This record gives sequence, C-alpha cells and structure tokens, in this order.
Amino acid sequence: MKTLIVRGGRPLRGCVSVPGDKSISHRAALLGAVAEGVTRITGFLRGEDCLATLEALRALGVAVDDNGHEVVIHGIDEEGLSTPRGPLCVGNSGTLLRLLAGLVAGYPVEATLDGDASIRRRPMDRIAIPLRSMGARVSGAGDRCLPPVTVRGGDLRPISYTSPVASAQVKSCVLFAGLRCHGVTSVTEPRPSRDHTERMLEGFGAVVERNGLTVSVLGPGKLQGRAVRVPGDISSAAFYLVAGMVVSGSSITVQAVGVNPTRTGFLDILAEMGAPIRQGPIAQEDAESVADLQSEESALRGVRIGGDLVPRAIDELPVAALAACFADGPTRIQDAVELRVKESDRIASTARLLASFGARVEVEDDGLVVYPGRLGPAMVDSGGDHRIAMTGVIAGLAVSGESRIRDAACIATSFPGFVEGLCSLGADVEEADD
Ligand code: S3P
Repeated sequence: MKTLIVRGGRPLRGCVSVPGDKSISHRAALLGAVAEGVTRITGFLRGEDCLATLEALRALGVAVDDNGHEVVIHGIDEEGLSTPRGPLCVGNSGTLLRLLAGLVAGYPVEATLDGDASIRRRPMDRIAIPLRSMGARVSGAGDRCLPPVTVRGGDLRPISYTSPVASAQVKSCVLFAGLRCHGVTSVTEPRPSRDHTERMLEGFGAVVERNGLTVSVLGPGKLQGRAVRVPGDISSAAFYLVAGMVVSGSSITVQAVGVNPTRTGFLDILAEMGAPIRQGPIAQEDAESVADLQSEESALRGVRIGGDLVPRAIDELPVAALAACFADGPTRIQDAVELRVKESDRIASTARLLASFGARVEVEDDGLVVYPGRLGPAMVDSGGDHRIAMTGVIAGLAVSGESRIRDAACIATSFPGFVEGLCSLGADVEEADD
C-alpha cells in the first residue's frame, strides 16, 4: 500500500518511453514456452502481471532466464508441461489466468490457477464453457466459475466457438487450446478484439486463418522459438498522452509505442474529441507496428464512444473519461458493460474517482455520461485497480493544489516507472506510506 501525493498545475514537457506491452509480453512468454527451441524476448514488461507469467511457467517445468536485458524461454516442445506442485499464482492478471488455462488444457496435467482478491471476483465461465466443450475439465466457484480455477487437460477436440463477448482473452484461450487438437479450432467474436495472438501465432509458425470476425488455428500446431521485440504499451502511453492534453501548458512525446490498429481506438477517440495525437513514422517490429506519439494541451469536444471502438480502447476508457471532463460538452461511453468485470467494476470506479475530483458523472448499465466541469484536488482510493490509480494521478496533475491517491502500489502490475516518467517531464509526485 502506498499513497501518491500529487501537486498539480505544473506543465509537463519532454520525451518519455513506456514499458513493454502487457498483452504482447504475456503471449510471447506463453507461446515461447510450448515452442521448440529458444525464444528471446526484448522489451518484456517487468510488471507484476508479466512476472507472474514467468513464475507460472517455471512452476509448469519451463526453464526461464531473465538477464535484465532479455527474457529467455526454453521451449518444452514435445516434452510437455508438468503438473505444478501447488496452485499457480496469477496475481492480479485476468489475462494470465485465461490464457494460461487455454495453454494448460492441451496437456495431460492438472493445475489450479488462483490470484488476488480482485481475480477471485472475475468470471471464468467465459473460458470454462469453451474449454469444457473441447474436453477439458474445468472447475471454479459457482455459476461464473470464479477462481481458484482447476484445469485438468488432455486429449482435446477442436471446436468452432462463437463467443458472446468481444474478448481477446477468450479468443486466445481457445486458440491456445486448439494448438493441441487434431483439426481446425475456430473462434468467432461479436466485435473485433486485439489480434496480438493471431499475429504472434503466425510468427511462431502456426497455421492461422482469419475470415472477418472468425479466426482459426490448425492443430497440432508446431511452434518454432524465435526472437520477439515487445513495443511500448499504448495502454500505458495513454496516461501520459492525456496528461499532455489536460495539464495546462504541456507537450509530451511518448517514444516507440505499439500502434496495432486493434489497439488504437483511444487515438481515434482523441481525434474525434478534436485533439489528434501527432504520430511519427510507423516502423514495423516483428508483426507489430510502432510509432512515437505526441500530445499537447488541446481544446476538447464531447463525443459518443460505443460499438467497435470499445474493444479497441477498453483499457483506456477510464483515462478517456477523465479527458472528457475537460471537453466543451458531455461525453457518453456506451456498449462498455465489459468494464464491469475488469480489475474493478470500472464503470463504478471511474465514476467514483471522477466525482471525487468534482466531476458530474452519470452511471449507466453499460457505460457513463461525463459532463464538463471544473475539477479540484481530491483524496481518492484506487480500490487496488492500477488504471484507476493512474487516472487519479493524471487528474491530480491537471488541477492546482495537492491530491492524494491511496492504494497506488497496484500501478506496478502494469506500469513500473510510471511516477518516475512523470517526474522526468516535470511533475511533482511523491510517494508516502498509506
Ligand atoms: C487483454 C484483453 C483485454 C484487456 C486486458 C488485456 C489481452 O481483456 O482488457 O487488459 O491481453 O488479451 P478482454 O479481452 O477480456 O476484453
């Protein structure tokens, strides 16, 4: 537990970078683990979520080295995963739990996946249903299959699964399990979700086919270990970019950020708000595109955010809602009921956070309406949700006076160095014990 004391009102200027993409780091380690040969990952996110992935793999018998420069995964290939001695701890990471369940399900092992108090509230029926229909035994608490979740894997059969939710975690879980089936496993989503798994599977040599909202993998998939370079996380960059926009007199460049089109809904939202992010030339790194992004103080318009934009910006919606407080009219976020099952109920927690800073926010079943208004300093609690804590810090920087963000240690799950990066831009943020 840690409190951040934020003294706002100072302009933020300069150039920063952000740690590696969380989604890509998880996938590189997990696929490297079941590949043949060695996978070397540079830019791996050393946040708690992804470090939990490395620990879980070690517990499943995978050799993992981290020399500080690169993470090296020695793939098990034919040898298979081993039954771990105790429960695998995913910490705060829903992505890890869901992707790992799919990976483990393909092997004749039994593993229990557990995590912190937030994880124990997150629904796992969305992966239990397809994994059971593939032949895995999956158990958890109650109808929603809450963690701890036990997976007994083995001989799986391929399925064609239509997911009721647009979730890259569900899609990836089923495709990972499909790697061990004989035949084609496919997943169809209601809206497009991030496609890092598809790109990375292809990079590791799997046979993947995409057709509109359906993606298929041919099993058994023979993966070949490789070098992976992880770009900066756009979901982390979003906090700095909004800071550049709402903190008076600011101009911030974030270097080498992943700009995969299935992740850039946030940039589209800002452009629609009248504050286009300046994007440098796009470079191609492995299967992902990377660019520098720059924001500066801007006049913002209220907008409507819904439909296909939502999965493309799902993790950025709390900080987008903060930007909306500075617009000239109301912003409505809709079709975003998935926010209710993130690290916290992010419809409720975002509304509570912004209201503490003085914003007028209406909560709806599937979203929020944020009205423009004058914000002032506040004392808030993150409730253990890293993105709520970081949104609180940016709100504190945008107002004059001193704000306090309690329970901010959770920021380390996805963004180690968040405070240091802000301070390098001129922010006044200090750590204290709760
Ligand atoms: C992620 C997918 C998203 C996102 C999460 C990371 C992933 O979740 O919110 O932070 O890496 O696949 P859903 O796919 O469940 O929406």
